[in-house]
Amino acid sequence: KIENIHAREIIDSRGNPTVEVDVFTGNGFGRSSVPSGASTGTNEALELRDKDERYRGKGVISAVDNVNNTIKNELLGMDVRYQRQIDGLLIDLDGTDNKMNLGANAILGVSMAIAKAAADSLNIPLYTHLGGTNSFNLPVPTMNVLNGGEHAGNKLAIQEFMIQPKEAGSFTESMQMGVETYHALGKILESKYGPAATNVGDEGGYAPPIDVTSDALDCLVNAVEEAGYSETDITIGLDAAASEFFDGNSYSIDGKVMDSSELMDYYLELLDTYPILSIEDPFHEEAFEDFAELTREAWNTIIVGDDLFVTNVNRLSRGIEMDAANGLLLKVNQIGTISESFDAASMANRNGYNVIVSHRSGETEDSIISDISVALGADMIKTGAPARSERTSKYNQLLRIEENLGDVSRFMQL
Ligand code: PGA
Ligand code: ZN
Repeated sequence: KIENIHAREIIDSRGNPTVEVDVFTGNGFGRSSVPSGASTGTNEALELRDKDERYRGKGVISAVDNVNNTIKNELLGMDVRYQRQIDGLLIDLDGTDNKMNLGANAILGVSMAIAKAAADSLNIPLYTHLGGTNSFNLPVPTMNVLNGGEHAGNKLAIQEFMIQPKEAGSFTESMQMGVETYHALGKILESKYGPAATNVGDEGGYAPPIDVTSDALDCLVNAVEEAGYSETDITIGLDAAASEFFDGNSYSIDGKVMDSSELMDYYLELLDTYPILSIEDPFHEEAFEDFAELTREAWNTIIVGDDLFVTNVNRLSRGIEMDAANGLLLKVNQIGTISESFDAASMANRNGYNVIVSHRSGETEDSIISDISVALGADMIKTGAPARSERTSKYNQLLRIEENLGDVSRFMQL
């Protein structure tokens, strides 16, 4: 039974306030905190900010108050194991499509802390509580080792350049491959662009003064080789986050202005040249048709919808009908409850989509997405570079989960 709920304002990895929630039962405790994006999709659930003089308007006292009053009053005495019923109640209590009344940050903080309190009360791992006893798959990490777009101060249009150490016997081995490549990349960038090139962006990846996509990709390919791995051992993932370089008409990339068909050709050429396994948000967030065309043309590439789907089953089912993609990026704060995120993942699974569980560029030390990725049997987890504690907290939790599962654990085969 839920005996108390308490929310507070804490600070995230970018120095902005966010919501943290504590849930107490008679014999258990759960604490969770809410992440925040920079390249957010227009259709995401609403993150409630105070917009007053505190913290340049970014305070979350109103969301915190909503937890400590309205939500707490409603949930006290409920059985903490009933995640879905509680999430349903939170959705009804808010009453809007995008959770603008109570704030998705208030609701998600509670939803996640409830899950943790339940696992603690039951004295079982969180991934087992959320996914059942058949949760034994560890996702392939997709590590954002070179930052551009909204996450860095350089001129790269593409936001994320990721490495995917997929030919490994275990998650632990995959981490080692990724970390070795990350350091090899640092050395390459330093020798090519000088010591300042290894300063890092919002997600712990290097943010070198590179202007052109192919130069960044060349560095990644060299780093993989330098670290002693092959193009099949470690593939490359891109997140274009293309809404951020789309002006309503055309795309600005590599110093050129392109329409969607030119951008399509541009991607197809990159795919021919580099060992790229996945591209996320290649076009702007309403370009379902362009997504579908690229998915057809690049049939052996994982085309991932992030801002396109915003972890929302309505947008995902539209995408599925159109064959707009074959991968779902799953971000719990885009939709606002654990249960709705799981609904999106099962719809994706049923339709043969890859599921990639994701952090946000603004994070906290909370590692709940690691447990969620194992609970869902997700194909990949995207949680930044293997550097900076708000990123490594997730990777480290997966190392612990793999250790805890022991012999029965399995590393996902892509
Ligand atoms: P965001 O970036 O958290 O700033 O939205 C992550 C992403 O686009 O995948
Ligand atoms: Zn994205």
